[in-house]
Amino acid sequence: MQAVIFNQYGGPEVLELVDIPQPTMAANQVLVRVKAVGLNPKDAALRAGMLKFLTGKRFPQKTGFDFSGVIVAVGDQVKNHQIGEEVFGYIEDLVGGAAAEFVAVKQDWIATKPAAIAHVEAAAMPCTYLTALQALRQAKLQRGQKIFIYGASGGVGTAAIQIAKHLGAVVTAVSSGKNQAYCAALAADKTLAYDQSDVFGDTQEKYDVFFQVHVLSGNLYSQARKILKREGVFITIEPNPLLGAQGFIRKLLGQPRLESLLVKSNQQDLEAIARMAEQGVLQPQVLQKLALSDIAKAHKIIEEQHTRGKIVLEINSD
Ligand SMILES: NC(=O)c1ccc[n+]([C@@H]2O[C@H](COP(=O)([O-])OP(=O)(O)OC[C@H]3O[C@@H](n4cnc5c(N)ncnc54)[C@H](OP(=O)(O)O)[C@@H]3O)[C@@H](O)[C@H]2O)c1
Repeated sequence: MQAVIFNQYGGPEVLELVDIPQPTMAANQVLVRVKAVGLNPKDAALRAGMLKFLTGKRFPQKTGFDFSGVIVAVGDQVKNHQIGEEVFGYIEDLVGGAAAEFVAVKQDWIATKPAAIAHVEAAAMPCTYLTALQALRQAKLQRGQKIFIYGASGGVGTAAIQIAKHLGAVVTAVSSGKNQAYCAALAADKTLAYDQSDVFGDTQEKYDVFFQVHVLSGNLYSQARKILKREGVFITIEPNPLLGAQGFIRKLLGQPRLESLLVKSNQQDLEAIARMAEQGVLQPQVLQKLALSDIAKAHKIIEEQHTRGKIVLEINSD
């Protein structure tokens, strides 16, 4: 089968589209014929070797974590999925492999694809919608509450706007100025541009939840405190193991809660996302559709951290 691999860590140019044997399947896995693969910053980070202390020095390594496709074989322990079922999912581990014609995936990491949604759209949803759903749940966002989403125009941000609006929250979306109108079109109640104003100094409002999506600006808890209610919640998706201890100290000091989230793939949440997409509550934001052979170009765009919506690669479009 055709698959994307890399034989060393490095820039997008290390990605190679090659012929390799189809993956073998464990008893708790399904084999999926991939129709589309969605890209995330995680893909580029792993390829660049940013987590090489975890991913090691054995090559070739595979890539691709978000996908949509059709089940072509099921393992002996798989009870809830059948051959021919259209599924989408997020591979939670660091090994991936969805940027290929076939991928073997744990049964817990997939759900039935909504019939009304094309494979390309379904592949745009898993990681980012799971992240937004789990973050807003952890922050206990309630109807009528005000949420401030910092980094609102990319994958996780656009998911967060849509889910927060569905929950009945009042949304302020922060992006660059060029993406303000886009965030407004997604139904954000208010938009702010981090490159045109002091988004912390210029707002008089007090928020219930601050969701830090853009994590490369460093931890924004101190700035967020200025605009959070005392009983408010700051939640970040920065992968930083020290945040748990910091959150505990903030709590002891009676300051707004500091929460962090590492997304988990699970069938129940994927099913909830599928239902919301089926009802039209969530609209997958595929702003660029490319071919699998364009994967290096797609990685280059992703690692600039200014992707509007999502980039999806189509495979087996028949
Ligand atoms: N912990 C977890 O489980 C988890 C899960 C998913 C993602 N993540 C991480 O979360 C981050 C966001 O993921 P994503 O998929 O949403 O990425 P993305 O699609 O690349 O979006 C990045 C966003 O950041 C904004 N941005 C860029 N520079 C900024 C700046 N200087 N100040 C404020 N905002 C800025 C961009 O807006 P403009 O283009 O308008 O500037 C865009 O909205 C990534 O680092 C990713 O690795 C973590």
